[in-house]
Amino acid sequence: VEHLTGIKDLTPADIELILNTAETFKQVINRPIKKVPSLRDITIANLFFENSTRTRLSFELAEKRLSADVVNFSAASSSVKKGETLIDTVNNILSMKVDLVVMRHPNPGAAKFLSERVDARVINAGDGTHEHPTQALLDAFSIREQLGTLEGKKVVIVGDILHSRVALSNIYCLQKMGAEVMVCGPTTLIPKYISALGVKVEHNLRRALEWCDVANMLRIQLERQDIKFFPSLREYSMQFGLDKQLLDSLNKRIIVMHPGPINRGVEITSDVADSDQSIILQQVENGVAVRMACIYLLASKIGR
Ligand code: CP
Repeated sequence: VEHLTGIKDLTPADIELILNTAETFKQVINRPIKKVPSLRDITIANLFFENSTRTRLSFELAEKRLSADVVNFSAASSSVKKGETLIDTVNNILSMKVDLVVMRHPNPGAAKFLSERVDARVINAGDGTHEHPTQALLDAFSIREQLGTLEGKKVVIVGDILHSRVALSNIYCLQKMGAEVMVCGPTTLIPKYISALGVKVEHNLRRALEWCDVANMLRIQLERQDIKFFPSLREYSMQFGLDKQLLDSLNKRIIVMHPGPINRGVEITSDVADSDQSIILQQVENGVAVRMACIYLLASKIGR
């Protein structure tokens, strides 16, 4: 693999290698000296055409922990606002001798499009409603860390599946690693093609939670809703929101995940998000090690 544009392109062996490499890097970043000199000769550009907190900071920290040189680009404060195209923008940045590009973009397929047109490695940090591969890898890493394996584990992804790149990348990743996947949400937020991917579909949250080992609660992506949101947020939280009463009423202990940012009180209440069954902050912590692994493995293919 020369680029990381989606989980769909990876084999189970590729994913296993990334997760195992991330385990090594997690040990490194828990040492007093958190850096390794591996990528001293590599320059990385982080191009963000869409807002981000976790992914952007996590990539930048991962790159710095690997001793790469890092430049950050935010479309909102760039010449994109004067009409410069994506390819012109990237080629101008690459002419400054950049080896690897991390890009978040609102258009599905943007990372793949870029990877076919520029002379640099490309990592997709989220392309519209399509894929968010490093999120799926850090989610898989976090589940494996908690449960020892992904093989045979049952994971339900709850919420706005229709607009979620996290859902699609997670479905590909979990299935490739032998987990069973269910999606749960209102019919308006579950795409028709989902059953063809071999996932179960459930519209009752309690039944979904009774089935699963892990519940990944997604954010309602109001910024991507081009029709008036149905059901309303209030109706959504009543039917699909996870609160402590529901969590405690299950006859088993499940793991609760969320990719962030959280709409507290909509898809998950604060007492669940902050409970000891939630691994939300461990996911964020693991994101740095997983991104170090992805960058390190791709950079090893750069002729130097
Ligand atoms: N999980 C995630 O992608 O968060 P950000 O949008 O803050 O990067």
